[in-house]
Amino acid sequence: MNVTVEPGRRVRGEATVPGDKSITHRAVLIGAICDGVSRACGYLPAQDCLASIRAVRQLGVTVEERGAELVVHGLGLHGMTEPDDVIDCGGSGTTIRLLCGILAGQVGKAAFLTGNEALRRRPMRRILEPLQEMGAAVIGRSSDQLPPVAIRGAALRGLRYTMPVASAQVKSALLLAGLLASEPSEISEPARTRDHTERMLVAMGAPLRTENRTVLVQPATRLEPIDLHIPGDFSSAAFLLAAAWLVPGSELLLRNIGVNPTRTGLLEIARRMGAGFLVEEEKLVCQEEVASLVAWSQPLRGTLVNGELVPLSIDELPLVAVLGTQAEGETVVRDAAELRVKESDRIAAIATELRKLGAAIDELPDGFAVRGPTPLRGGTVNSHHDHRLAMALAVAALVAQGPVTIEAAECVADSFPGFFALLESLRC
Ligand code: S3P
Repeated sequence: MNVTVEPGRRVRGEATVPGDKSITHRAVLIGAICDGVSRACGYLPAQDCLASIRAVRQLGVTVEERGAELVVHGLGLHGMTEPDDVIDCGGSGTTIRLLCGILAGQVGKAAFLTGNEALRRRPMRRILEPLQEMGAAVIGRSSDQLPPVAIRGAALRGLRYTMPVASAQVKSALLLAGLLASEPSEISEPARTRDHTERMLVAMGAPLRTENRTVLVQPATRLEPIDLHIPGDFSSAAFLLAAAWLVPGSELLLRNIGVNPTRTGLLEIARRMGAGFLVEEEKLVCQEEVASLVAWSQPLRGTLVNGELVPLSIDELPLVAVLGTQAEGETVVRDAAELRVKESDRIAAIATELRKLGAAIDELPDGFAVRGPTPLRGGTVNSHHDHRLAMALAVAALVAQGPVTIEAAECVADSFPGFFALLESLRC
C-alpha cells in the first residue's frame, strides 16, 4: 500500500496513542506462565503482538480478546503444552527471543520457531549461546545465528552472564530462563535497557532484584497473575511529538503515555536539540510511569547522541535523523550499530530514503551524521517494510516542499494501527 502525505498544515489538538508494544508482548508471554488468569487493559492489538498471542495459543494457553482487555489464562511456569506445528513469530523479534527463554526450560517439550523473511535475517546467537550455557538444547540455522530455531526443553542451570550487546530482548529471555532454572542467575547489561520485564516479574512476585546493571534472579515456584493497565506506547507517541516539533505553529497534547525512563531517551535528545515539550501529571500506574506530554514547534539545533543514551532511545533514532534534517548544525548518532539488525538496516534505510528527499545525511558504521537545516523536496520513498521507517518518513513529509509518497506503508500496522488516520485528524 502506498500512502501520500501532503506537506503543510499545523499539528494541533489532543490525542492518545495505542498501547505499549513491549508491555503487551510481556503481558501475553509472561501472563502465559502465571498461575491463573491475568488481565491487560489497553493492550496493543497490532501485528507484532498478535504474533505473541497466536504463539501462546499454540502452546495451549487460552487468550481472550474482550474489547480493550486481553485475558490470558496462564498455565504456570512449566505448564505449556508441546505445539503440534511450527510457531510463526511473524516479524516480531520480541516474540521469538522471549519465547526461546521460556521454551528452553519446558522440560521434554519440543518447539520450532520461525518468522517472516525479515525476522529470519535477525541475529539469534545472542540468545541461543547463553541459553546453551544454561544447559538448554537450542539450535538455530547458520550455526545458531538465525531463525528458524529448534528447542527441546531441558532442566536449566543458573547463569552468570555479561551481555555483549545492550538488548532488553536478550536480558528478558535470560531472566525468564533463570526463573525456570534450578540455581540463581546473574545477568549484567553493558548499558541500561528497557526494564518492563523486571517490573512485571516483581509485580508477579518473582524472586528478582536489580543492583546497578545486574539483575539477580532466583528459581521461581510460581508467578502470581496480575491486572495491568497498559499505557500508550512512547515509541508511537514519538512520531506525533516529532511532527509537533517540526511543523511551525504546532501544539499537541498526548495523554496517558508511558514515560518509563528506560524508554524516554528521545526526550533528553529533544531537550538538547532545543525542542519544546513538557511532561505533566506524571504518576505510577501498574509499576510504570505514565504522563501527559505537551509538544510545540520551535527552532532545533543539532546534537550528538551516543553511549548510554542509545539504548534508551533505540527505536526513535530514525526519527532523530528526520529531526536532524531541520536542525541547525550537525546531528550525529554513534554507538548505534544495533540499528543495522532491527526490522530493517535502519542506518542504511533512513539514510537512503531521506537522501531521496534531499537530506544531507551520511551513513556511519554505527550511526549517521545529518547536516541541517535542509529543505526537503517531495518524492517517493520506501519503508523497507519497517514500521518505524514508514512513520519517520511520514513525519519528514510534513515539512517537505511537495507531496511525499511512502511505498509499502501498510507495515505501520506492526506497531501503530491507525497511524495515518490519527496524524491526518490532528492536522489543521
Ligand atoms: C524490545 C527491545 C528492543 C527494541 C524492540 C523491543 C523489547 O530490542 O528495539 O523494538 O520489547 O524488549 P533489542 O532488545 O534487540 O534492543
